[in-house]
Amino acid sequence: MLPRPEKIIFMDGFAAQDARVEEQLCPELEKEEYRIQIAPERIMLTGSGKTGLFYARTTLDQLRMVYGDMLPCMKVADRPAYSYRSFHIDCARHYFPTDELKKMIRMSAEFKLNRFHWHISDDQGWRIESKCYPRLHEIGAVRGGDYFGNYHSDQPEGGYYRREEVREIVDYCGQFGIEVVPEIDMPGHVTAILAAYPELSCAGEPVEVGMRAGIFKELFCAGKEETFAFIHNLLDELLELFPGKYFHIGGDEAPKERWRACPYCQKRMKEEGFQNEQELQGYFCNRIASYLLSKGRIPIVWNEAVYGGNLDKEAVVQLWTEDKDDQIKAHLDKGGKAVLSVVENCYCDYPYGMHSLKDVYQLNMNPRELGGHGKDSVLGTEVLIWTEFIRSHITLEEMSWPRFAASAEVGWCGEKSPGYEDFSRRLEVLFPLFAKYGIRAAGMEEWVPDEDKAAEQAAAFQMNFSEEDREEVRRLQEDI
Ligand code: ACM
Ligand code: ZN
Repeated sequence: MLPRPEKIIFMDGFAAQDARVEEQLCPELEKEEYRIQIAPERIMLTGSGKTGLFYARTTLDQLRMVYGDMLPCMKVADRPAYSYRSFHIDCARHYFPTDELKKMIRMSAEFKLNRFHWHISDDQGWRIESKCYPRLHEIGAVRGGDYFGNYHSDQPEGGYYRREEVREIVDYCGQFGIEVVPEIDMPGHVTAILAAYPELSCAGEPVEVGMRAGIFKELFCAGKEETFAFIHNLLDELLELFPGKYFHIGGDEAPKERWRACPYCQKRMKEEGFQNEQELQGYFCNRIASYLLSKGRIPIVWNEAVYGGNLDKEAVVQLWTEDKDDQIKAHLDKGGKAVLSVVENCYCDYPYGMHSLKDVYQLNMNPRELGGHGKDSVLGTEVLIWTEFIRSHITLEEMSWPRFAASAEVGWCGEKSPGYEDFSRRLEVLFPLFAKYGIRAAGMEEWVPDEDKAAEQAAAFQMNFSEEDREEVRRLQEDI
């Protein structure tokens, strides 16, 4: 089974072909905990509610796949090691219609992933219909073409999700115990928003929706009060569409060039007594975070947001890069929580030859950034796919699957994870699951490429990037 259940006790005998399947509620179990008891005449599924029972049914279906007509009598008692087991899809760099997203969601539910981190705003596109700021979808949802690295196209590219479609996705996820965690990345990665509302940037000058990959200089102005009023209004609208507990507010890759040159930002820094622009970013994130907290939501940020040293400890930090000056560690030492998603293990937009299935499986759940609190700081894991270079849902599926399943088991089993060899054997047996849900997964021979194939794939991947883009990214990364 995937993920492997915590406890299975086999007993004598087999379930009859016509054994009744019954379900019962047991309020003492935790939300995601479940039990299965298979006896000759009866199969009993137990959970405390909808999610536990869904997980029990899912495991029973997998058991039937493994054992066919000879389903052994057994008792299964299962629950996850981590409460946050997330998958991320970037729908800003490329837009994927809701039917394609639903396939990805249904497949993720099969492996008991329970958060869909929906990346819906970035430099290259804004993806949600907005009633209060309609220029976001009218202007921000379409770019003039693609100049992503070495790929060039003059075809306008884009799309956005209508409000009914957003509700449909949220409801669909809800059927399978998945919470949608939307991400509005800020103060950087906002070029598409600024194309629609340029007055929110420092200089207030017109910009186009981004057409290349990499890091962009444009940020929300952290000095103008109008910026915060805009974000609060926008959040009010989005919180109604996204009822979940967590809300991601980005915070990655925000080079400070614009803020250094901006009289409003500099005035704010002086008034607040900040020594550097990283502290201004902490201030910016804290204002948005406290707004979300006041509405009963928990903000999540990428790890760069802690570099000012002043981030509110209630903000959950998503680790994707290495720590800088032990700032992530300091945040967690204060009692902050983390979601682990280190690039080398969790980013599925890289070929299998760079981040193999085994690498995903071997994510270190106790990295040094966690410091003294160790596992207690960790909410869970996330596996991600970014789509600068992924233009079709077929590639999206092949890159994601089965790597997402490996991450699901890491989050579910935690320290009790049975190891990659055991995982990959079970995966081979359950591989027909992908076809069942219409998903094109990478075949076994792709999972852990040998050295030559890995080198070939890495070289091909590097061809995506132009030397010019690479140089620009290097320069801006220095300033984050
Ligand atoms: C990220 O990959 N920029 C979070
Ligand atoms: Zn400014």
